Amino acid sequence: MSKILVTGGCGYIGSHAIVDLVQHGYEVVSADSLIRSSIKQLDGVTEILGCPIKNYLVDLCDKEATRRIFEAEKDITGVIHFAALKSVGESVFEPTLYYTNNLTSLVNVLECCAEFGVKQFIFSSSCSVYGNTTELPVTENTPLQKTESPYAHTKQIGEGIIEHFAKRYTDIRFILLRYFNPAGAHPSGLIGESPLVEATNLVPVVIETALGKRPQLSVFGTDYATRDGSCIRDYIHIMDLAAAHTKSLDYLIVEKNETNCEVFNVGIGQGVTVLEAINAFEKISNLKLNVFKTDRRLGDIEAIYADYSLAKKHLGWTPQYSIEDIMQTAWKRANR
Ligand code: NAD
Ligand code: WQD
Repeated sequence: MSKILVTGGCGYIGSHAIVDLVQHGYEVVSADSLIRSSIKQLDGVTEILGCPIKNYLVDLCDKEATRRIFEAEKDITGVIHFAALKSVGESVFEPTLYYTNNLTSLVNVLECCAEFGVKQFIFSSSCSVYGNTTELPVTENTPLQKTESPYAHTKQIGEGIIEHFAKRYTDIRFILLRYFNPAGAHPSGLIGESPLVEATNLVPVVIETALGKRPQLSVFGTDYATRDGSCIRDYIHIMDLAAAHTKSLDYLIVEKNETNCEVFNVGIGQGVTVLEAINAFEKISNLKLNVFKTDRRLGDIEAIYADYSLAKKHLGWTPQYSIEDIMQTAWKRANR
């Protein structure tokens, strides 16, 4: 059984990935400082899996503490590095925090992989590395544009750091997964997205509005050149995203990779407008939301969605869930 270190395992994506990994035969340990999550998320994981998951309460910016995890666990075969701060708006106001946290933790974990002989490494990248692109759908070869925020810049730099590590450590196999817009919850409703800071992403905001925690749902811009005037995004169900990590590990472990550093888009390849997403929620919940059409949000791009054919071809990954499934599972989670 391969032992995988999941950094950020108490977070939104990491916790769902742990569920899929363990259900596919991987042994998992987590390392999370809980700076942006609660250990309760692992209670939900335990309830789904019927077995506990160990978390090392470690700030991965602390190199010695990070090394001790690898020493204690000895035979880690792969690392999935989710741990990072991810709020675009916060990063604009706290650039030092974002560059320090996201890049120091990455370098520390990479150095430990080299020192302790870890052969598989998967990195959480983001479609935000494409910046304000006009090429649609975006492929992995779409040129990266100047980023809109320090957060997105940490992902571009992080990718660059890994590319250079891959040249230096040719026996380690790396995958960079560029996620589009992850949303939704585990179908059981036992885990989901539980932001500790104020939610700004569309689906959590929809849910909070439906729960009455917000008086209204602001739609940022209805004058874009799209089919209904609102922005287009590629919303990917969290369990589809989780599966992409398991498939990536499977692929690396049997050495199907063509180079030792490969990039894959992880989106469902379909653009959904903000108004269509809201309609999908209203359909599955039988509720009418108090929607307020307002000005464009600074930094938003008009439209982005993925070409995921490379992930399909190489990883054998195909998304299974729709925007309705995203809304249905997020709503189920909210009502538990
Ligand atoms: P999250 O905030 O829910 O989880 C991240 C976890 O990392 C948290 O539990 C946090 O406590 C932990 N963490 C952060 N810095 C740490 C450090 N220095 N040491 C130890 N633990 C630390 O975020 P998420 O949505 O699960 O995102 C996971 C990864 O995916 C991140 O790298 C994020 O940038 C990336 N990503 C997320 C999205 C998205 O919309 N959710 C989209 C694209 C990429
Ligand atoms: C989606 C659409 C908003 C809230 C962000 C990061 C990106 C990646 C994914 C990490 C946009 C509209 C939203 C609201 C709205 N994360 N909206 N009212 O901005 O596409 O991407 O998360 O890597 O880097 O930037 O996601 O969910 O915030 O917005 O109208 O209250 O919903 O304008 O068009 P975004 P989002």
